[in-house]
Amino acid sequence: MSSEDTLVEDRESVSDDRFVAISLADAIPNNVELASDKQLLRAMETWRPKYIDWWNEMGPEGFQVSDVYLRTAVGVDPTGWAKFGHVKMPNYRWGILLAPKVEGRVISHGRHKGEPVWQDVPGEYRSLLRRLIVVQGDTEPASVEQQRYLGATAPSLYDMRNLFQVNVEEGRHLWAMVYLLVKYFGKDGREEAQALLERRSGQTDNPRILGAFNERTPDWLSFFMFTYFTDRDGKMQLAALAESAFDPLSRSCRFMLTEEAHHMFVGETGVQRMIEATCAAMNKAGIKDPYDTAAIRALGVVDLPLLQRKANFHMSVTRDLFGSEVSSNAADAFSTGIKGRFNEANLTGDDHVLTDATYKVTRVVDGKFVDEDVPALRSINARLLDDYINDCQGGLNRWNKVIEKAGIDFKLTQPHKAFNRRIGEFAGVRVNPAGEILSEAQWQAESGAWLPNDADMKFIDSLMKPCHEPGKYATWIAPPRVGINNQPGDFEYVKIV
Ligand SMILES: [Fe+2]
Ligand SMILES: [Fe+2]
Repeated sequence: MSSEDTLVEDRESVSDDRFVAISLADAIPNNVELASDKQLLRAMETWRPKYIDWWNEMGPEGFQVSDVYLRTAVGVDPTGWAKFGHVKMPNYRWGILLAPKVEGRVISHGRHKGEPVWQDVPGEYRSLLRRLIVVQGDTEPASVEQQRYLGATAPSLYDMRNLFQVNVEEGRHLWAMVYLLVKYFGKDGREEAQALLERRSGQTDNPRILGAFNERTPDWLSFFMFTYFTDRDGKMQLAALAESAFDPLSRSCRFMLTEEAHHMFVGETGVQRMIEATCAAMNKAGIKDPYDTAAIRALGVVDLPLLQRKANFHMSVTRDLFGSEVSSNAADAFSTGIKGRFNEANLTGDDHVLTDATYKVTRVVDGKFVDEDVPALRSINARLLDDYINDCQGGLNRWNKVIEKAGIDFKLTQPHKAFNRRIGEFAGVRVNPAGEILSEAQWQAESGAWLPNDADMKFIDSLMKPCHEPGKYATWIAPPRVGINNQPGDFEYVKIV
């Protein structure tokens, strides 16, 4: 039996009070030599009870005492970094894990290109780095807050478990960013770590930093769309930060990406299983027309046009998270080496310094779209957004295959980049999904066909009934092809207390 197993057992056999008394360095999986770094240990020991208070107050509502089949990251070995077992969420072993150090790693881009990466924060870049870490860190607890009521309406125990898995891992991502703040940013860092537990998603007086993280995730369709589209923004940001010249940030983000993959899997397969249920129900009832909405909804499944409208909403809101397409802050982050482009180290075709390079950015000039050559340095966000849009397409293609295979004439598509945007080049411009610029009056008259309307949301809400029996699934979602960690179909993923 490994030491990790012993720890899990110890944890379960002692009361909560005893657990708090266990040395933190032993209780949290870590590869940052927590036990020997007294200052860091003390900072984490001060922060941890406040985190647990936040988790109890803002984490998944109603299931904190249930045993959930969760994976826990216990190391960074790609072949065996996680362990599975039933655990009560407040007892989850949130750890601090960095991807292994790459000896001899040099800065891949910007004005310090070719110099050794930094093991500490250069004074002149301190505030820029701190801000980036805080913004990334803020999204992690925000999504837990957005999703906190979903357990009660889970369409199966399998899905409920996946929700909670995503939630505890977003919690761990917060730990990852807090580790960087308290280890490398002194008193300022400790204050930021505290503030991360104080902001609240959707609150007017102290909201989360980014807009999309203040929207509600009111139902499971929203959750699946969020984990497919918005966690994918997380992936792009983490990938760009994984290129950072600040090596501890790079190593943190590289490990977080391993976990992020599961979140997008939950989203992609969630939507796919909904499509499977819809197509099967339509075929069984002999409905050929995907727009025969009333008849399709009467079967207790979500019509495909509604899935498209929901996808349109989540895609457009998430695209705003990339910030202004043309941005001097993004140029600074790149030039200083703090944040790279997607896949920076492997990009070919330019010098990674970009002093003279340009990039094509779509803008609106005199009421028309034009692709303009903009200095590449100032277009870093535009490029990351384009990479994101490309990255989204894979899931849509796989979803469309399911629809095609079922013999239904319908195709899910990505709306034009400018559709429904509030930030950047297209803020204030009305554009339909096909990419035609509209007047305000046209938009008002037609946008109900492109974004979820009240009747849509009411219908989705009517489907949100719990299905909490092992092996059973709500009408609107098909069972998964394989269980988590190859568990059988009737496995009790959550033992509800
Ligand atoms: Fe995350
Ligand atoms: Fe995530």
